[in-house]
Amino acid sequence: MLGYLYPLRTYLIVAGTFEKPNPMTADWVVPLSFSPQLLGVAIGKTRHTCGLIKEKKDFVVAVPTLELLKDVWIAGTTSGAREDKSKKMSVTFVPSKKVKAPSIKECAANIECKVVNEVETGDHIFFVGEIVDVTYGDAFRDGKPDIKNYRFLIHTSSGPNFTYVGNEIFKP
Ligand SMILES: Cc1cc2nc3c(=O)[nH]c(=O)nc-3n(C[C@H](O)[C@H](O)[C@H](O)COP(=O)(O)O)c2cc1C
Repeated sequence: MLGYLYPLRTYLIVAGTFEKPNPMTADWVVPLSFSPQLLGVAIGKTRHTCGLIKEKKDFVVAVPTLELLKDVWIAGTTSGAREDKSKKMSVTFVPSKKVKAPSIKECAANIECKVVNEVETGDHIFFVGEIVDVTYGDAFRDGKPDIKNYRFLIHTSSGPNFTYVGNEIFKP
């Protein structure tokens, strides 16, 4: 029944270290607080990423555009428990500024988070991350996404079904 919440935006959660990164695709990412700046991400207990975040206590939310769809699919269908999927992907991992988990150079933004809380929610762990730094490129101007020139990824429904944020803006 959670399918009725879709379409949802899609992100890459990077856990681990620069030497051994583990990227994972995630739709279940949500803003939680302005002050302090908090966001939450629900990670299945069986994911390799879950154990890594529990251990390292940090992660990066990387914002992909449609150009990275193939990599997003690899990160969302391969487990780091079985193989080093970062080697199969065509993105570049770069050191983050304040957390051990690396950032992804090709992503529109990389939001660095330190875990401040984790809540067991059924078969997922909901990690609450405090945003400690962010890097971003031309896809953001004055902190706002440039949706006319960049295709921010949307997952339309379960399976390999994606689109991107349209560039029409409506004012209520
Ligand atoms: C588009 C998409 C969105 C996903 N969203 C989530 C999510 O929000 N939370 C989650 O735990 N898994 C999600 N997954 C599944 C994980 O990305 C997938 O199980 C991945 O292989 C886990 O990698 P890991 O074992 O290296 O952590 C998603 C997969 C796809 C393709």
